[in-house]
Amino acid sequence: MSSAFLEGKVLTVHHWTDRLFSFTTTRDQALRFKNGHFTMIGLMVDGKPLLRAYSIASPNYEEHLEFLSIKVQDGPLTSRLQHIQPGDSIIIGRKPTGTLLLDYLLPAKRLYLFATGTGLAPFLSITRDPETYERFEEVILVHGVRQVNELAYYDLFTKELPQHEFLGEMVSKQLKYYPTVTREPFRTQGRITDHIATGKLFKDLGVPELNPAEDRVMICGSPAMLADLKRMCEERGMKEGNTSTPGDFVIERAFVSQ
Ligand code: A2P
Repeated sequence: MSSAFLEGKVLTVHHWTDRLFSFTTTRDQALRFKNGHFTMIGLMVDGKPLLRAYSIASPNYEEHLEFLSIKVQDGPLTSRLQHIQPGDSIIIGRKPTGTLLLDYLLPAKRLYLFATGTGLAPFLSITRDPETYERFEEVILVHGVRQVNELAYYDLFTKELPQHEFLGEMVSKQLKYYPTVTREPFRTQGRITDHIATGKLFKDLGVPELNPAEDRVMICGSPAMLADLKRMCEERGMKEGNTSTPGDFVIERAFVSQ
């Protein structure tokens, strides 16, 4: 295998729906990353690496790696990747990178994490990073999906993390989880963008409207969702941060669409 890649052995696979699955792998000690980073992962196909960018869903203090993926029946990678079993090998790029890092946001009171679909992945890492709770008093995770069963990790946020041995106290006090569903009945229905525009999100949470004095934002989802939320942040006077200059919000595409 080329030195650009490391090997990961699949440990567990969880199928959430017929469109969504997650899996864990072993982690080579050489793999270093920051919470929120993505890296290239994939399979050897006909002797060649077939790779796509995936956010790392596990926090960087864990011994294993975790990834969240869609399944596309005729997608070159995910049509194969969805069949992986414990013991199989995947290839993992050694150079994780990305903009959804706490370091690229200016200090503030509140951190919003806006995700649609598999855009949740980087926030699974960030919400399990104690530094997130040291830097921000309040952390608000908003996950928008089409169907209720696509609310992957619902139990993690509602049950497991609040009781977590080390993170439990911080999470219980500081993390607010706000799931929303667009295509079937649920207690909160509609797109994230609409909940911001109408003010429902802020009313429900009992916080002020999104503002650059108190709030910072990370956004991960489809290109259309990124464009809409970026515009909404800019309309409120927020400036985009990047790897060289920290700002009020940062964005990243939820990569894998095949
Ligand atoms: P909708 O059902 O109204 O299209 P997908 O599975 O296509 O990635 O969508 C995930 C979620 O993101 C869905 O709830 C979808 O709502 C929502 N969504 C799609 N486009 C946008 C957008 N531009 N802004 C906010 N949410 C969006």
